[in-house]
Amino acid sequence: MCGIVGAVAERNITAVLVEGLKRLEYRGYDSAGVALLNEAGELDRRRRVGKVSELEAALKAEPLPGRVGIAHTRWATHGAPSERNAHPHFSGHQLAVVHNGIIENHDALRDQLKSLGYSFSSDTDTEVIVHLLDHTLKSEPDLTAALKVAVKQLHGAYGLAVISAKQPDRIVAARSGSPLVIGLGLGENFLASDQLALRQVTDRFMYLEEGDIAQICRDEVQIWDIDGKAVKREQVQYHEGAEAADKGEYRHFMLKEIHEQPSVVQRTLEGRLADDHVLVQAFGPQAADIFAKVKNIQIVACGTSYHAGMVARYWLEELAGIPCQIEVASEFRYRKVVVQPDTLFVSISQSGETADTLAALRNAKDLTPEQGGYLASLAICNVGISSLVRESDLTLLTLAGPEIGVASTKAFTTQLVALMLLTLAMGRVRGTLDPQLEAELVAELRRLPTRLGEALAMDAVVEKVSEHFSEKHHTLFLGRGAQYPVAMEGALKLKEISYIHAEAYPAGELKHGPLALVDADMPVVTVAPNNELLEKLKSNLQEVRARGGELIVFADEKAGMSNGEGTHVVNMPHIHDALAPILYTIPLQLLSYYVAVLKGTDVDQPRNLAKSVTVE
Ligand code: G6P
Repeated sequence: MCGIVGAVAERNITAVLVEGLKRLEYRGYDSAGVALLNEAGELDRRRRVGKVSELEAALKAEPLPGRVGIAHTRWATHGAPSERNAHPHFSGHQLAVVHNGIIENHDALRDQLKSLGYSFSSDTDTEVIVHLLDHTLKSEPDLTAALKVAVKQLHGAYGLAVISAKQPDRIVAARSGSPLVIGLGLGENFLASDQLALRQVTDRFMYLEEGDIAQICRDEVQIWDIDGKAVKREQVQYHEGAEAADKGEYRHFMLKEIHEQPSVVQRTLEGRLADDHVLVQAFGPQAADIFAKVKNIQIVACGTSYHAGMVARYWLEELAGIPCQIEVASEFRYRKVVVQPDTLFVSISQSGETADTLAALRNAKDLTPEQGGYLASLAICNVGISSLVRESDLTLLTLAGPEIGVASTKAFTTQLVALMLLTLAMGRVRGTLDPQLEAELVAELRRLPTRLGEALAMDAVVEKVSEHFSEKHHTLFLGRGAQYPVAMEGALKLKEISYIHAEAYPAGELKHGPLALVDADMPVVTVAPNNELLEKLKSNLQEVRARGGELIVFADEKAGMSNGEGTHVVNMPHIHDALAPILYTIPLQLLSYYVAVLKGTDVDQPRNLAKSVTVE
């Protein structure tokens, strides 16, 4: 994923920019570059394909000192990874830009700018921004004012930063759909796409909001909102302990990671949504071409990631109308599979290093067209520099940040978000998704972080419910439709960290076996959103109550379910049915967490389990 770093100071800032880029390396990238105003006040740059260390070596061989500069790590969306496509991009020798996100109307803007005499030196969408700004400067010579005018013509998503040799006192920046944060120093100020990049230089930050334009000088930062009104954004002091590798105020990493879900889901959405649709290019430069040819999808994954894939199968078939199969990687890799023509191979993995998942991908890639090979491969992964990402044709990174607790939580919900983006992108490219539903789901995705926050606010209620489990040895989880895999994930969480035997069943299967187990010692946990399967689910629950089983039901507030003898109902905030699997995961995570705490187990490092299983 692309990263931005910028600095305006009295000292030479080359090392600050390079260090910032290194701190963003974990997100994955294919090239890196830096542009500075040198001692003579001229714009100069260095760009390299590959690692930041190669850019660093280039800067060592040919130093580029300066006091105002911008830098970038690029993850190709338009145009292959190459030096000419790496940012910063220039317009003449005056203006440089770095950009995260996707400019959708770049073709039209490119034609317009070409007719005005601009020539392009890259295949990127980004280059239109810098020429458009240059053109705007002809009628509005102030850089900040010109940026305010120019961004109005950009459609898509962007976080961008610009420097100019004509106004060398500043960086100007704009945010719409891709995050930017300003780092405040003493007599110097900074900019980045993630505050992590600036921790070495400051602990005070100001987050830009959607539509903001900022002017960052050495001694002053000015911000204007989407309506052009001067605004002040709150200053946030970073405290030690907010680090991923630190539990901070939380008792366990798992609880901290559960509570991080609204922000990491937000991050996973950023830069990938336009007004009413998903930006297909977020999956890579060839995504639109490949997706247009896909007729089937094969998903492969392990553990929690497998459950995410199971949810995705419901979505892909129902919303995008595309046939989808899913299998655990350890099985898939050892059997002879019949590949349907034009099948996209999708692997899902938090780490990107799970041995079975990697082996399955490699086997899939080894199949020749005569053997019925796959059309292409797509990795949904949390680690940008992992083997899975390197070896797949397309990637969509989840941006959950490092996950320390062995039991996966935030990685799962961000995988679900990524898979919903895939579903919407597929539906769009294939023309199988009703545009109105598409727009509705995009709007719901934008509201999702808030909904997740509401579900997390039920922490104390779930903690109370967990008391029903501490003395129990067996539990049953039930769900229907896309909530069945959510029930599976709930059962997996409980067994992983509390060592209570937990099984998940599709609710309709209850009468075909597990009902025989139900008695007062076997609590039954159910997820019950308000959908067309609700009435059927209610009958299943009656079957449990009739056998003296205790019910714990997480139900939509509009589902009309209430507490009764042996039935404990926890009301959930209402949400669009398609996104319910993401929301209902939260109380099940909290439930397993509190049961484990009551039982006194090692929550973050449960016995016999490993975070990343890189051997068979
Ligand atoms: C291990 C972890 C699980 C994870 C699974 C797959 O079993 O304990 O939390 O879901 O591996 O890992 P991956 O990194 O491929 O998602």
